[in-house]
Amino acid sequence: MKIVQKTVSVFVLLAITMVVRLAGDNTVLVTTVGDSSVLTCPIKENTTMLTWTINFKAGGPCTLVYRNDTKMTHRTNCSDNIDWKFRAGLAPALEIQHVGIAQEGTYSCEVASRDGNFRTTYHLTVLAPPRLRLFCDERGSPVCEAAAGKPPAQLSWVPESCSRAEEKYHDNGTVTVLSKFTACSTNGTNVTTCMVSHPAGNWSQSIASCPSEKTNFLLYACIIACVLVIITLLAVIYYFKLRSDRLCHKTKPPEIGPIHSQQDDTMEVEPYTTFVQKENVIYNSVLDLTVGQNLPQELCRET
Ligand SMILES: *[C@@H]1O[C@H](CO)[C@@H](O)[C@H](O)[C@H]1NC(C)=O
Ligand SMILES: *[C@@H]1O[C@H](CO)[C@@H](O)[C@H](O)[C@H]1NC(C)=O
Ligand SMILES: *[C@@H]1O[C@H](CO)[C@@H](O)[C@H](O)[C@H]1NC(C)=O
Ligand SMILES: *[C@@H]1O[C@H](CO)[C@@H](O)[C@H](O)[C@H]1NC(C)=O
Ligand SMILES: *[C@@H]1O[C@H](CO)[C@@H](O)[C@H](O)[C@H]1NC(C)=O
Ligand SMILES: *[C@@H]1O[C@H](CO)[C@@H](O)[C@H](O)[C@H]1NC(C)=O
Ligand SMILES: *[C@@H]1O[C@H](CO)[C@@H](O)[C@H](O)[C@H]1NC(C)=O
Repeated sequence: MKIVQKTVSVFVLLAITMVVRLAGDNTVLVTTVGDSSVLTCPIKENTTMLTWTINFKAGGPCTLVYRNDTKMTHRTNCSDNIDWKFRAGLAPALEIQHVGIAQEGTYSCEVASRDGNFRTTYHLTVLAPPRLRLFCDERGSPVCEAAAGKPPAQLSWVPESCSRAEEKYHDNGTVTVLSKFTACSTNGTNVTTCMVSHPAGNWSQSIASCPSEKTNFLLYACIIACVLVIITLLAVIYYFKLRSDRLCHKTKPPEIGPIHSQQDDTMEVEPYTTFVQKENVIYNSVLDLTVGQNLPQELCRET
């Protein structure tokens, strides 16, 4: 019985090793958006045909075939930036120019030779370095942004921040990470540093203290004060213009004055009241005149 068990377990072990060996053919390739990659296939002696089959993570497959006897190539549904690369003295390779996130997927190469068919597989992963920005928001807090990174960038602050970062996922597989600095302790430091770590590279930038809300408040107060001053000035100017218009009416009497000449005598007795009375008289008389004789109303425009 024991012997049987041992043989079974040996078989199981062998099977596992086989699977691991097969999986070992799968090489993981990592590249960055915009770079170029060249994938090669281990060539056997007397190769008759080379075939690349690409299964993209998103979208249909694409194939490229090279026949060694006729030196002919053939491609199906491959984008323009994926093609054969022929180099003197070397077997044809596959080249991906200006790699994009869309080119992520499994790249399998099959060599057909007299000894049989051999397959090699690569898993292509494309990194997108984030666009980085450190700025002050309107409330006076430093904000660190790592836009459109793949995978998402890790953000950290010096001194430590007590707020969590927000992540926004884009359709093309990239992620924008936004972190607002919130001081954990009241220990005053004037400089805050944002540190970004990403497989495509590390980055750090410091910012001197942001203009605080207090400064902003002062700024707004200043703006409001300026507006008030301007309004007051306009009001004063308008007032003086009105007054000058009235004075203008007052200097007009010659035409109308003589009609009510008796009233002028009272001026010596009570100057203020007569002034008011006279004003009313002038308005009344002007009205009378315009109604009666159709005189132009803009008596003052000429002076
Ligand atoms: C390759 O082909 C040549 C003849 O064309 C033959 O002599 C040679 O043995 C072959 N090699 C292998 C590995 O099959
Ligand atoms: C391709 O074919 C030529 C002959 O046409 C041969 O000399 C060459 O070795 C072959 N290439 C490979 C990789 O087998
Ligand atoms: C290639 O793409 C066309 C449509 O663009 C599709 O009809 C065809 O089935 C595809 N061929 C292969 C081999 O995927
Ligand atoms: C992915 O999408 C985001 C938002 O639409 C864009 O800003 C970014 O440039 C894109 N990245 C790539 C590599 O296409
Ligand atoms: C505040 O800063 C001082 C030195 O500047 C340091 O000794 C102390 O531990 C800090 N306190 C906190 C809570 O970080
Ligand atoms: C912060 O800046 C002020 C002057 O603006 C300075 O007096 C103070 O010492 C600075 N504090 C630190 C922790 O650097
Ligand atoms: C980024 O920094 C980490 C340690 O913080 C390091 O392990 C990693 O190799 C760095 N990456 C690059 C691309 O420099």
